[in-house]
Amino acid sequence: MNVGILGSGDVGQALGRAFVTLEHRVMLGSREAENQKGIAWAKQSGARASHGTFGQAARFGEIVVLATLGVATENAIGIAGPQHFAGKLVLDATNPLDFSKGMPPVLAGGVGDSAGEKHQRLLPDAYVVKVFNTVGSPLMFRPQLPGGPPSMFLCGNDAAAKKRAAEICKDFGWEVVDVGSIGAAHYLEAMCLVWVLASASANNWHQAFKLLRK
Ligand SMILES: NC(=O)c1ccc[n+]([C@@H]2O[C@H](COP(=O)([O-])OP(=O)(O)OC[C@H]3O[C@@H](n4cnc5c(N)ncnc54)[C@H](OP(=O)(O)O)[C@@H]3O)[C@@H](O)[C@H]2O)c1
Repeated sequence: MNVGILGSGDVGQALGRAFVTLEHRVMLGSREAENQKGIAWAKQSGARASHGTFGQAARFGEIVVLATLGVATENAIGIAGPQHFAGKLVLDATNPLDFSKGMPPVLAGGVGDSAGEKHQRLLPDAYVVKVFNTVGSPLMFRPQLPGGPPSMFLCGNDAAAKKRAAEICKDFGWEVVDVGSIGAAHYLEAMCLVWVLASASANNWHQAFKLLRK
């Protein structure tokens, strides 16, 4: 499968490595084709890995991942061209965090408008699933934790898209918790801040949520 990833940061690179390890072809996208991080990532990630612009990555992907700076993702989608997402599963790992007043960040726009919903509105012909936003990039693939596989929370409007996203999460080593429609992105984006604050208070960023049921 071809996976296009918008984002050359830690998340784009970590998810890109994961898909390459699972023998998918990955193109990492940036604003500029000459982005040095993207070029270096492709060079070190083998023959299945490449780098291009946001538009090239969106066109390339049968699945497209949003892994751009949260408050800049609307811009990234515009640069890529929303038409290149039509009919595709879009995995939205972004968090709309506002760092302008320092740490800890706050949710940009409060909980009035989630990024997941905004991205689904910008891409009406795509199937946006909010996922991979509630854990740090080092643990996104095959997390090894004493309590066993952690829980990956996801939400989206399309059942088939969520099923495919859940299969990907399971391949990546996660249990999956579906919390409903893309409207639930409000809560998953807020969960990111619970993760940040809990990490900061324990001074340990190697943590993930696990939902326990009986
Ligand atoms: N870091 C984590 O552990 C983690 C975990 C879960 C979720 N997230 C979320 O995942 C997303 C990616 O996080 P990250 O830490 O990997 O990287 P990041 O530093 O938040 O974002 C880097 C990407 O954003 C793009 N970007 C920056 N400004 C832009 C603009 N004005 N217009 C368009 N694109 C712009 C960059 O483009 P270029 O490639 O052109 O430089 C780059 O590809 C964020 O939304 C973050 O909140 C992060």
